[in-house]
Amino acid sequence: MKIFAANWKMYKSPQETREFFAQLLLPAQSQLVLVFPPALCVESAIESTKGTQIKIGVQNISSKSEGALTGENSASVAMSMGCEYALVGHSERRSLFAESDSVLNQKVKFAQDIGMRCVFCIGETLEQRKSGQTFEVLKNQLQLGLKDVKSEKLIIAYEPVWAIGTGLTATPQQAQETQSQVVTWLNENGFSGAPVLYGGSVKPDNAKELIQQKSISGFLIGGASLNPESFAQICQS
Ligand code: PGA
Repeated sequence: MKIFAANWKMYKSPQETREFFAQLLLPAQSQLVLVFPPALCVESAIESTKGTQIKIGVQNISSKSEGALTGENSASVAMSMGCEYALVGHSERRSLFAESDSVLNQKVKFAQDIGMRCVFCIGETLEQRKSGQTFEVLKNQLQLGLKDVKSEKLIIAYEPVWAIGTGLTATPQQAQETQSQVVTWLNENGFSGAPVLYGGSVKPDNAKELIQQKSISGFLIGGASLNPESFAQICQS
């Protein structure tokens, strides 16, 4: 089953969230559709998607269920509201919010302890790719982020940092080559069967060719997921 995940980042209000779902026409196929709205829109997203195939997740969770942590999102509260999924390790959280591999590891473990499913993101910068370090970087992120993590319910998203929000997409060959290395690492380290999504400027016009690659189990989509028509078109690919 293919997975189509929308990462809305810090876009949309609760009203815009309701409008999006009112306009979204998904293909009647068996696929997993996830939407990660901003935390302030989670409630309206959950209300708008009741009784549909769409699952709602949170873009960021704390590794604690509660505490003196101004601005953080409690994974336990998100779960109780109906969020079964969390994004962990997105490159914007790693670079703009300085989330370290060990912090990310704690978040994944906490989410798993309470039964939440994580989409754990990894990716290399352009500099790292140019200097031939891509797989070393990804392996390091996997090793540290998934230390003592259970394989069940885990989803990985490979998102080359240079392709996020830039309009540059990895070619289907580049994505397949890198993702097959990730799949091999997962198989050899007790995570076999974990789906690996591709993310980075996925659009309706490049989705078809990318989704045909053997090691791509679905997409994590930013910009193109904000529009109900383009998101639906990608889900149809
Ligand atoms: P993009 O974002 O599709 O706009 O490149 C992807 C992401 O950040 O998950």
